[in-house]
Amino acid sequence: MSWIGTRAGGTSEGARSPYVTLSLPLLAAYAHIVATVLLVGYALFWVVMTTTIREEEGPESMGLLGLIQRGRWPPGGVPKPLRLTLPALGWAFLLALFLTGALLVVSGGRTWDAWLAGRSGGWPVAKLTLFVLLVVGQAIATMRPRRWLAYVNGGLAMMIVLVSALLRH
Ligand code: HEM
Repeated sequence: MSWIGTRAGGTSEGARSPYVTLSLPLLAAYAHIVATVLLVGYALFWVVMTTTIREEEGPESMGLLGLIQRGRWPPGGVPKPLRLTLPALGWAFLLALFLTGALLVVSGGRTWDAWLAGRSGGWPVAKLTLFVLLVVGQAIATMRPRRWLAYVNGGLAMMIVLVSALLRH
């Protein structure tokens, strides 16, 4: 489905069309990559926070992590009820990745079965498995932020990005 023609340069005679057609798969891919950047940033934020605020230093440190956990984002510019806690932001990024990823799977006229059994070998299965593990990790971290968990979740997010690069289009 093509929506909009966007001027993309290359006007010399004989060159291919100077317009790039914005399509649903292209928009889904763009949103998927943006959500990836946000999720990786979120995961790294927790790695930095839990490394700096050392949990073995006692209840005060745990209290600080809890305080960060309950903080609302963005801190201003948006009515209070619309501000999300940090874990809710993480869930929003995961949901966005799931929805845009699902759109990428089906927008090319593929089915889930075709994607899973497709040209990419076992990588889609590995990616979905890592994704489920990350969802579990995020659920535990939402209840109790911990350094080891932040490292595991950060590692999982990076591994998903790596596996994604191995998916063939
Ligand atoms: C259920 C969740 C997800 C689904 C169904 C999904 C699906 C897809 C699909 C279909 C593609 C295009 C490649 C292809 O056609 O096979 C893709 C690319 C990609 N995905 Fe996902 N994805 C999911 C979650 C994630 C997550 C959590 C991340 C990041 C942490 C991620 C990062 C990427 C990246 C970076 C690419 C681009 C790879 C490239 O073009 O080199 N995806 N994904």
